[in-house]
Amino acid sequence: MAKKLKILIFPDPRLRKVAEKVSKFDKSLQNLADDMLHTMYEAKGIGLAATQVDHHIRLVVMDLSEDRNEPRVFVNPSYKVLKNHNLFEFEEGCLSIPGFNETISRPDKIELKWQDINGKEHTDEPEGLLTVCIQHEIDHLEGKLMVDYVSALKRDRVRSKLLKDYRR
Ligand code: NI
Repeated sequence: MAKKLKILIFPDPRLRKVAEKVSKFDKSLQNLADDMLHTMYEAKGIGLAATQVDHHIRLVVMDLSEDRNEPRVFVNPSYKVLKNHNLFEFEEGCLSIPGFNETISRPDKIELKWQDINGKEHTDEPEGLLTVCIQHEIDHLEGKLMVDYVSALKRDRVRSKLLKDYRR
C-alpha cells in the first residue's frame, strides 16, 4: 500500500536543497515513486518532485491526464532549451505553495532526457503542458520555486501568509 507523504510548505528551507542524481534503481526507488504518486493524487496535484516530500534525489512524478490515470515517473530528468522556442505562458500552482497561482513564462520547446524507474534512458521533445510542468519540477530539484519568478514584494506576502497559516 502506498503511503501518503508530508509535503513541505514554502518557506521551509529544505525546499532549497539541491537534489542528488539517482544511481540505484531498486525497490526503495519504486516504493518512493509509488508513495509520491499517491501523495500527488490525494493532494489533487499534477506533478510532484521528491524534494517536496523531503527526499533529495532527482525523482519527479506527474499525471497530466484529465482522468488521472496516466501516472508518469521521471528519474534524473534534464532538458535543454531548443533554439527555435517561444515563450509559453501558463498559470502555475504548486503543492508546496498552497493558494498561490501565478502566470509564468517558460520556453515552449525543449529536448528532455530522463530515465524510467528501471534506469532505461529516454529522450523526447515534448509538447504542451508537459513542457512547462517538467521545467517547474526540475526547478524543485535545483531548490528553485515558482515564487522566485515573481517580485520580492509578492514573495514576501506569500511567505508571511503561509507562515501564519502553516505555523506548527
Ligand atoms: Ni511545485
